[in-house]
Amino acid sequence: MKKLEVFGAKKLTGQIKISGSKNASLPILASTLLSNKKIRLKNLPDVKDIKTMINLLQSLGSKIKKRNKDLIIDNSKLKRKFAPYNLVKTMRAGILVLGPLLARFGMAKVSLPGGCAIGTRPIDIHLSALSKLGVKYKIEQGYVSASAPRGLIGSNIYFPKISVGATENLIIASCFAKGRTILSNCAIEPEINDLIKFLVDMGCDIKWIGKRKVKIIGVNCTNEISYSVMFDRIEAGTYLIAAAITEGNLKITNVRPKIIKTEINILKKVGVKIFQKKNEIRIIGTKKIKNLNIKTAPYPGFPTDLQAQMMVLLCKANKRSFIKENIFENRFMHVAELNRMGANISINGNKALIKGNTRFAPAELMATDLRASVSLILAALSAEGKSIINRIYHLDRGYENLEKKLKKVGAKIRRIN
Ligand code: UD1
Repeated sequence: MKKLEVFGAKKLTGQIKISGSKNASLPILASTLLSNKKIRLKNLPDVKDIKTMINLLQSLGSKIKKRNKDLIIDNSKLKRKFAPYNLVKTMRAGILVLGPLLARFGMAKVSLPGGCAIGTRPIDIHLSALSKLGVKYKIEQGYVSASAPRGLIGSNIYFPKISVGATENLIIASCFAKGRTILSNCAIEPEINDLIKFLVDMGCDIKWIGKRKVKIIGVNCTNEISYSVMFDRIEAGTYLIAAAITEGNLKITNVRPKIIKTEINILKKVGVKIFQKKNEIRIIGTKKIKNLNIKTAPYPGFPTDLQAQMMVLLCKANKRSFIKENIFENRFMHVAELNRMGANISINGNKALIKGNTRFAPAELMATDLRASVSLILAALSAEGKSIINRIYHLDRGYENLEKKLKKVGAKIRRIN
């Protein structure tokens, strides 16, 4: 199994170009199932989760060609409405094919995504909202079999809890539902806006009518389009934090700073210097990191997907900090590994107390999930000496060319068998 070898502590300096967003690409790829016209997608990141979603679409009968870095997708002759366990188990976003398959064919059978390392991750909100559009479903042998005998019918739906995936699944499904659908208490992550822009370009009728309220009028055909996916704000945040941790000086390009205001403000509060232009950010690290209390929250709050990375930075603060994880119940698996590197972090329920003043020591480490893996790399980048990170397949799910990008800005990092 592949491992990463990291030699710290080098200051990161130079420029990193941010890739397309994994979390915007996944629902957009799923939503192409609505269309029987050709679609060209640009700026998709070359990461494992995207390959899994492409495999899933192909298993349904999708014809997908690569042109340079773009994908040309033709879903005019889909054969199956069945998403098998082996494709959905590694990537929870597989459940996002449920909405579009129901919208286009009125039936679908999709494997339940099951639990994952960061929590149980149920799909009850997706299912109860779909049932309000007229979907009947049953759960048998790990699969959800769903059908809409009279087609999907527009409705008023209030999500009992903010869910990114449920908002996406329902927006996509409602595009072909008869009449008007109003979804309230929606997630408003930038990736959802990117999905909406894509769907509107494709001919769907979707409008925000309140902060968390969206109105969708059903249509029955779509256009041929070409669409470029937004930047990956979590990748951008990860490299900004990497610069701060290594007291580096980085320019991050291909971003829209306006979208990551919360993260930028938090980084400024810990003491780093940040200069913004329309599509780039310059960050200059500092020796003195200030302590801070953070809680994760749905957008525009601080993202749970940057919690582990931020924790590494706060380990270097002059005093103690707190992090409250409000989204996933079990997202502190990186803590044990960080403590093995010399951090002093204690957990109480969903709160972490980070003592600060840590000088990370190198170690052999085990990655447990996507963002936890990258947090270990960040700690290793600031630890003087050689660290080894095992199970890096987690990392390959979501970071495009991570080693190449880090090497270019001065990190000593390589993949070994
Ligand atoms: C998406 C992101 C993930 C991010 C998360 C929160 C993608 C592919 N993944 O995941 O990177 O960490 O948003 O920003 O975009 N919940 C239920 N029932 C449901 C659905 C969700 O209880 O039916 C709970 C979840 O267990 C979790 C919370 O709601 O505690 C938020 O989950 P959700 O926003 O749905 O996350 P994902 O869409 O799975």
